[in-house]
Amino acid sequence: MSVSTAPSVIAQSPAHQTNNEGWSSKLGFILAAVGSAVGLGNVWKFPYIVGEHGGGAFVLVYLACIALIGAPVLMAEILVGRRGGGSAVQAFRSLASSENVSGNWAIIGWIGILCAFLILSFYSVVAGWSLSYLWFALTGSLQGVSSDNAKLGQEMSQIFAGLLANPWALIVGHTLVMVATMLIVARGIRRGLEAAVRWMVPGLFMILIALVVYAASTTGAFGRAATFMFRPNFSALDGEAVLVALGHAFFTLSVGMTAMMTYGAYLKKDISIGSSATAIAGLDTVVALLAGLAIFPIVFAAGLEPGAGPGLVFVTLPIAFAQIPGGAIIAALFFLFLLVAALSSTISVLEPVVEYFAGRPGWTRLKATGVSGFMIWVLGIGSALAFNVGAEFTLFGKNVFDLLDYVTANLLLPLGGLLIAIYAGFVLPSRATAEELAASGIGFRVWLFLTRYVAPVGIASVLVLNLR
Ligand code: TRP
Repeated sequence: MSVSTAPSVIAQSPAHQTNNEGWSSKLGFILAAVGSAVGLGNVWKFPYIVGEHGGGAFVLVYLACIALIGAPVLMAEILVGRRGGGSAVQAFRSLASSENVSGNWAIIGWIGILCAFLILSFYSVVAGWSLSYLWFALTGSLQGVSSDNAKLGQEMSQIFAGLLANPWALIVGHTLVMVATMLIVARGIRRGLEAAVRWMVPGLFMILIALVVYAASTTGAFGRAATFMFRPNFSALDGEAVLVALGHAFFTLSVGMTAMMTYGAYLKKDISIGSSATAIAGLDTVVALLAGLAIFPIVFAAGLEPGAGPGLVFVTLPIAFAQIPGGAIIAALFFLFLLVAALSSTISVLEPVVEYFAGRPGWTRLKATGVSGFMIWVLGIGSALAFNVGAEFTLFGKNVFDLLDYVTANLLLPLGGLLIAIYAGFVLPSRATAEELAASGIGFRVWLFLTRYVAPVGIASVLVLNLR
């Protein structure tokens, strides 16, 4: 018997000691990463862009983008973060010396910081809508007076339109979300967050399942909804739809702006990046599909437009809540869980920014959070006003909110993803990437092929076709 294999406990000691505590466990990392990935992107954005781009064919392209591009780039981000450590900019710099490659790739970190500012500013406004709806549910404003779907649909559309028309309500919601995000990030309470995500994400999941069951059993439109979502009609698919599907694959996985890189920096060496990424992408996709299956039957039963836009979830689900016995309580829980899911995403957008600035001489974590959070808050007011007094203010035919959404999800995230794929696929020596992915379930060669060829070629061609 060999003695050399005995002291496996010693091998557990972390190779890279940082002053951070690290995730409490593999589950801790997965919870935080799932908390980042699962958010408004799944419940608010996914259903309405599916509706706007004609259903099944869009969903198919989206799923392909997740599996063939999003998931491999997610793995690339986590591995760069873990191997490099620290903020994204630091990770690229330290890999420049340890792997003997160019340090100019730190530009990816800079693009990420810019992107984080832009994303958080409008995302926080939508998170504020969830907060307003939590308030509506608690104060009984979502009760509804009508008893049939179509009339309730009109009532709920009016409630949503009323919220958007009120700049103060939007600004208050946005402000509260930003303050909560800043408090959590400034205090670095990762443990508290893990605990919240542990309960709220499963809670959101359960309510979505209950809503799907409700939609399937009572609306009489479940078949139509399923057909809409899963029978591909490629004539509804144009170049822009493919770009939106690709962009949303990045957005929903939180990939392309180094958020996952920042989280990966705390991941212990012995944890499989492949199986973590598979779990993150899988759960994220399931939540998005459940949200669609809960929402579209109500859309059809109430005679609403699938392409109604950003209000879709806020108009449809309250129709169900108004009819289910005990619906007011379910509504309050749903919007509470959605708010927590949104917060676990907002903190993951702010974290890379704070991580970078807090590491600079003369900056503390508190100052970094305060300064960046304040700037994002100011920018977000532009998005809040885009729905009312500032609606006339447009650029390329888009208001401030739509413009920020478009530029980040459809341009900056794919661009960041493209650069990360090239970096992990070609710049880092494959000895290094193979070492990081050694414990992974997915074959290294499959990952390398997707990261080197499928992702860069796919992203570049979609970008070029849309921008020419
Ligand atoms: N993925 C989140 C959602 O779907 C949003 C999000 C969190 C995000 N962190 C991100 C998007 C980083 C892009 C980049 O709601």
